[in-house]
This record gives sequence, structure tokens and C-alpha cells, in this order.
Amino acid sequence: MQQLISPLGTPYADPQSLEALAAVYAYPDQVNHGRAWLRANMVAGLDGAARLEGLSEGLSGDADKRIFGVLRALADVVLVGAETVRAEGYRPARARAEFAAARAAAGQAPAPAIAIVSRALRLDLTAPLFTEPLVRTVVVTTEDSPAEARRAVAEVADVVVAGERSVDLPAAVAALADRGWTRQLTEGGPRLLGQLTGAGLLDELCLSLAPLLTGGDAPRIVQGAEMADAQRMRLVSLIEQKGFLFTRYLRYPCPGDSAPTSR
Ligand SMILES: NC(=O)c1ccc[n+]([C@@H]2O[C@H](COP(=O)([O-])OP(=O)(O)OC[C@H]3O[C@@H](n4cnc5c(N)ncnc54)[C@H](OP(=O)(O)O)[C@@H]3O)[C@@H](O)[C@H]2O)c1
Repeated sequence: MQQLISPLGTPYADPQSLEALAAVYAYPDQVNHGRAWLRANMVAGLDGAARLEGLSEGLSGDADKRIFGVLRALADVVLVGAETVRAEGYRPARARAEFAAARAAAGQAPAPAIAIVSRALRLDLTAPLFTEPLVRTVVVTTEDSPAEARRAVAEVADVVVAGERSVDLPAAVAALADRGWTRQLTEGGPRLLGQLTGAGLLDELCLSLAPLLTGGDAPRIVQGAEMADAQRMRLVSLIEQKGFLFTRYLRYPCPGDSAPTSR
């Protein structure tokens, strides 16, 4: 595994080391001053598929899982669409001894919270995501979500209502930041990421490219929302292992270039 492109002014990292990966993927300093930063972590095949046989698992590999774990270990909250939770059987994020000291020093809980975006609220409330999280799971929903289901969800999770018929994603992201969760990570899926991107909320994309051609009609990592203008991105880090490419792109112009503001 080697790092081919390093963030400007930083030394090349040894990506085998968790400490070095944490430095490569460190959130910008603005997050310490109340500015929310939303990063996405996604994996795709070479012809753009965001899933294989219905799941992202088939596209992943050991190094991808390692970086996935580091990105979670740096985050305050993981924002995810309900279909990904259902399809992938999401579990709560776990605490990792290697990151415990850094998280405590940064004032973070031992693991990030999982925040699920859902209108239908068809969620398995007996799953560990609701019964065993280190940080109570959050469900972000709409005013018109089914009242009974919402009451049941509120028994086992924090409910945030943002938007009438569709979750207002800028309001949702702001509500998470208001909890002090400024290091935000979204793990998709493609429909949620499409809306986040379309709303101009995405600051950063960490895209793993798997050395696979899959064909078929799987969605791309960003699906659905039409964008008035293409979003330009700037490559800041590139790591290679066994043919996988692990890219880190920032929105361009970089939000960090302007004065920090809260959303
Ligand atoms: N390649 C990758 O990195 C990657 C990452 C994640 C997932 N995936 C794959 O992608 C697939 C799932 O992704 P997906 O794009 O179909 O779904 P998704 O984005 O995970 O979830 C869509 C669901 O989220 C809720 N939702 C999203 N936006 C909403 C809004 N504005 N207001 C209210 N609810 C909203 C709705 O849930 P309700 O139906 O509950 O209302 C909607 O059905 C799976 O196959 C998964 O394996 C791939």
C-alpha cells in the first residue's frame, strides 16, 4: 500500500499505520470552531457501479474496510439513508481502542452516532442499532411520517423532525451540528448522496475505486437529484493497494478557503 498523492505540505504517510491514515483523513480545523464538515465515503467499481449483487460489500476489500473504519473513528456522526440501513443490516459504530485517546481529547464520544434519514420509518427497532448503540441512534424524519411508527422509534432513538414531506437535508445537517457533531460522515446510499450533493452540502468525497468491471445497471454513487451545475472537486490524497485506489477529493473552491461560517 502506498500513498501516491499527499495533502499539500504534509509528508507522505505509511497507509498501513492507522495513525498515518488518521492524519491523512483528519477533518479540517474549522470543525473545532462550530463549522460542520460533511464528508462522504463511498466505493465504486471501475465502470461506476455502487453495488454488486445488491450490496456495496462485493466491491469492498481489506484496505477499503480499514479506511472505512478510520473515517468512522474520526467522525462524530454517520448520516445514512434508511435503504442502506435495511439492505446492509446496519449495526452501531463500535469503539476502537486505537482511537480512544484521540476521541477523548477531541471531546468525542467513544464512537460516532448513526443518524438515519427516513420518512417511512420501516426500521427494525429490535436490531442492535437501536438496542446496543454506544451513542443513541438518531432518526431524522418528516412531519408527515407515520405517527405510530414515530412514537415507537422515539422509544429507542432520538427523533429529529426536519421538513414536511421530505427530510430537509440542510436543516438535518444543521440539527446534527447543533448537537456539536461537526465532523460529519455520510455513507450514502446513492439516493441520499444525490440529494446532499444537489443541495450543495457535501464538502468532501472519499471514493474507493475497486479494480472491478461489473456491467449491469447498478446505480452510480450519486443518484437522482439533477444538479444545475456540475460540482468541481479537487484531489488531495491518493492511496493505492492491490489495485484499489483510495481517493480524497475536496469541493472546489475548497470551503476551507473561505471564512468559516456555521450552516
Ligand atoms: N457503493 C457504496 O459506497 C454504497 C454506500 C451505501 C449504500 N450502497 C448501496 O446502495 C443501496 C441503497 O442505497 P439507495 O440509494 O437505494 O438508498 P439510501 O440513499 O440508502 O436510502 C434511501 C431512503 O432514505 C430515506 N430518504 C432519503 N432521502 C430522504 C429524504 N429527503 N426525506 C425522507 N427520507 C429520505 C428514504 O427512506 P424511507 O424509505 O424509510 O422513507 C429512502 O427510501 C444498497 O444496495 C446499498 O448496498 C452503496
